[in-house]
Parts: sequence; C-alpha cells; structure tokens
Amino acid sequence: MNILILGSGGREHTFAYKIAESKRCEKLFVAPGNAGTASIATNVELKVTDFEAVKKCVLENNIEMVIVGPEDPLVHGIANYFAETSELQNTMLIGPSKRGALLEGSKQRAKEFMMQHNIPTAAYESFTAESLEAGIAFLEKLKPPYVLKADGLAAGKGVLILKDLNEAKQELENMLTHSKFGEASSKVVIEEFLDGIELSVFVLTDGKNYKILPTAKDYKRIGEGDTGLNTGGMGAISPVPFADDILMKKIEERIVKPTVNGLSEENIDYKGFVFIGLIKVNNEPYVIEYNVRMGDPETEVVLPRIKTDLVDLLEATYQQRLNTINIEIDERSAATVMLVSGGYPEDYEKGKGISGLENIKDSFVFHAGTKTEGGKTFTNGGRVLAVTSLDDDFRKALKKSYQNIEKLSFDRMQYRSDIGFDL
Ligand code: AMP
Ligand code: GLY
Repeated sequence: MNILILGSGGREHTFAYKIAESKRCEKLFVAPGNAGTASIATNVELKVTDFEAVKKCVLENNIEMVIVGPEDPLVHGIANYFAETSELQNTMLIGPSKRGALLEGSKQRAKEFMMQHNIPTAAYESFTAESLEAGIAFLEKLKPPYVLKADGLAAGKGVLILKDLNEAKQELENMLTHSKFGEASSKVVIEEFLDGIELSVFVLTDGKNYKILPTAKDYKRIGEGDTGLNTGGMGAISPVPFADDILMKKIEERIVKPTVNGLSEENIDYKGFVFIGLIKVNNEPYVIEYNVRMGDPETEVVLPRIKTDLVDLLEATYQQRLNTINIEIDERSAATVMLVSGGYPEDYEKGKGISGLENIKDSFVFHAGTKTEGGKTFTNGGRVLAVTSLDDDFRKALKKSYQNIEKLSFDRMQYRSDIGFDL
C-alpha cells in the first residue's frame, strides 16, 4: 500500500525508516519531511494543519494509510476530518479523534480524565483570570516548588516550576491576565510538585486493546547535568533501566488499563499512540502528562527496537484488532544523541553545510531539521540530527553514537555528552 507520514522531524524520519523496511509498503510519502526522509521517500510540501492539502495529497497518490507525527493536526481534528470526508473514509488514519487529542490539548481535561478514572497524578486546581485571587490563595496553601501549567498547547514551554512564592504569584498573573503563553494560558493548572525520577511509557491502542511499547527516558535541558533551558529533547535511551517488572506491572494496572478503559467508556475514538509522561516517587508511578503522539527524540530509540512489521501493527490498530497481533521487541538497548544548532533553544542560524554523513558506521542518523540543496545537506532547524545506536546496554550504545558523532560536523554544532548520566 501507499503510505503518507505527516511531519518533518527526527520522529518522522524514524517512522519513514521503519515503514520503508516493510514489505507491505509500496510508495512512501512524507509531508513536509526533511533531507533524511527525501532519501527514502517522496517529500510533499504542505502544512500539516492544512487538511485540504493533505486530502489532495492522499487522493492524488492513492494513499491507504496516513500516520500523523505531531500533535497539532490531531488537536485540530484531522481524524474527524478523515472520518467525515466521504473520499477519505477508507483511508486508515493513525491518530486519535479531536476528543481523544484533548488529553494533550488541554491540561485541565487531562487532569479531569485522570480523576474520573482513578489514575494516580499530582493534586491540582485550575484557574482563569476571573479566579486569579483564588489561584493566589491556592498557591499560599502549597509548599514550594510551585508548578504552573498553561492549559493549552504552548510548544512544550507552558510549564513553569518556581521556588519562590512571590514569583509564582507574579507568573500566575502573567499567564492569566497578560497572556504569557497567549490563549494557551487563559486557563492555568496549578499542581502539587512531585519529587522523583521521570520516564515515559508508550502505548499503541485501537481504543479497546493496547500494546505497551518500549519505555524511554529523554533529556530535555540544553545543558549537561540537566541545566539550562528546556528543549524539545537532547537525547534519549530505551529501555529505562529502573523500569523493572514490578514498576511496569503497577504502570500497566494503575495507569495503562484505566486510560484505555476510560477512553472506551467515554466512547472516544482513539486509534493511535498514547505517550504517558510519568514520575516515579518512592517506587510509585504518577502521571505528569499525556501526549497523543509519539515523542521526539523518544521515537528514535523506541521504534528501532520494535521488530514486528510496523505496517501490520498500525493496520491492526486501525481495524481494532490489536489483540490478534504479537509484538516482538529487540532485547538490546537503544540510545540517541541530538546534534543541535548553536544558540538553540533560543535564536540560531540555519543553512549550515553538514559533513561526514557518509562516514557513519553502526549507527542510524535520523534527520530532524535538515534540507537538501544541489545534492548537499544543510541544517534547517534547531534540532538537526539524532544519532541512534543499539547495543547490549545503553552505555555501549551511547559509546557508538558518540564515536560516530566525532565524524559529523556543521558550524556551531552542539550536543550533550552526558546522556544517561543519572542512571
Ligand atoms: P509537562 O509539559 O506537563 O510534561 O511538564 C514539563 C516538565 O515539567 C515535566 O517533564 C516535568 O519535568 C516537570 N513537571 C511537570 N509537572 C510536574 C509536577 N507535578 N511535579 C514535578 N515536576 C513536574
Ligand atoms: N520529547 C518530548 C516530546 O516529544 O514531547
């Protein structure tokens, strides 16, 4: 079948790599894609939230399956658009409906869902400009640090963690009355701070059945030792060594099952990935957030470990028969290290020539912000390349990635040399 992947990051190149491997895939398209996807698929220039353009691409290229990478089109209802458009009704779209995507699109909705279905999470209350005074009073009752979350999508920047009460009050006001994160912060969730170690669990669900995919841990801060500004993610490893059978059993029973059952009880059409951000506090798992898509760079370590044909797996998801398929996981560990542009996550320059790509051995180089021009590859974003390796343990895998990184270069290339430092 012909398959379309929406998105342009390292996540989408990794999906493209796995799909291109499948015997079931005839022609593969990625929209808009990057230099990496252009080498194994046909890139199509379009905006992923322009559903008319996506429809045109699907019809012109006889596409039977669409995999949605980022959250934006999902939160804007691309799954509903496909279900309601007669020419697209037989196209298998992998991604939740708009109601499903609200688990990521609204922090308040996610918290209400967790409360409703008894899923462990931090205590919280939510506030608007009208209830600012009550919000301030709520902050006064909490112990520091204070966690403030813009309700809506804020490109990963909408969470503030503050040590000082006065600063927290000021930021609450900035969010609610001065639109610090635009419309996204017209509502703010304030929650109890959870002190522990984070991990992510990925679930593929058809709305009734589910498969737990490999766990991963990402490193979000720009600086070594987890310091400095938050980024989209500077590296990741899978599996997470401390996610032993006992913890995974708790996560499955207390979090994964109630999440999938909750979606089903609420009649939410959900055929896609659930990315559950967790924190382990004294050996007990709590949910920090839901995302309704795969993570980036987590995908770069999770998908390379899945041995089952990805097209078979996604087709079973669309046909609501995930219970009939086995998922086989590579026992080895995977590690990825992101190479980023100097200055990222603040201002950075694009268009720097990348050299050394042809010298990589024993690692995958998944492209994120790259483009090709006249046969040469250039940087085209903050996060540029993800170098993934597999080996017996994550330290050996990391070593391979770092050895290959030595061969890669572009002007002001930057990366963290301490991925996995806390494990
Ligand atoms: P989120 O966008 O909800 O994933 O939050 C971004 C980051 O803030 C998370 O990855 C955590 O590191 C941190 N965080 C969010 N909520 C809490 C919490 N209740 N307690 C401690 N840290 C949190
Ligand atoms: N790496 C975090 C995310 O994809 O949201």
